[in-house]
Amino acid sequence: MRLEKDVFGEGAMEALGVAFSSALKAGMVVYLEGDLGMGKTTMVRGILRGLGYQGPVKSPTYTIVEPYELSTMEAYHFDLYRVSDPEELEFMGVRDYFSEGSVCLIEWAEMGRGILPEADVMISLGLIKQGRNVLLESQTEKGNEALNVLRDIITS
Ligand SMILES: Nc1ncnc2c1ncn2[C@@H]1O[C@H](COP(=O)(O)OP(=O)(O)OP(=O)(O)O)[C@@H](O)[C@H]1O
Ligand SMILES: [Mg+2]
Repeated sequence: MRLEKDVFGEGAMEALGVAFSSALKAGMVVYLEGDLGMGKTTMVRGILRGLGYQGPVKSPTYTIVEPYELSTMEAYHFDLYRVSDPEELEFMGVRDYFSEGSVCLIEWAEMGRGILPEADVMISLGLIKQGRNVLLESQTEKGNEALNVLRDIITS
């Protein structure tokens, strides 16, 4: 399934993240694609807020992964922009982050090709005048169910 939405401004981007969070289930993997500054981290901030996290959400560009202990699940926010060799991901034990009890939100997932699990939902962000075009595509049955829920939320 495929959902598309034009989103104007940072607040609206976070709001879409919040809406998406209520469709997310533990065990899911989400890739966020789009150029530098397209709003990937902003969307993740909204998702984490929606899952009940109130603190700051910074880009894990240098730490590669930032963990969040949420009441319902664990979340891991990855930014693989600075990863130059997939071996770095092996060394940090990246596979251990993926489990039925955690949700993984990944920026620059292409740097981990061959190592990371496939995405349940792929979110692609592109520039439009004064905003961003957001395309959400499911790649698994779990992802499909999530986007069905999201569609009901954003069209109601
Ligand atoms: N829908 C939107 N419309 C307009 N501006 C937006 C929107 N979403 C995010 N922005 C702005 O885009 C800028 C970059 O956002 P963000 O840091 O989330 O991008 P990113 O894709 O994570 O970048 P990077 O690849 O560097 O990690 C921020 O200033 C944010 O406010
Ligand atoms: Mg970012």
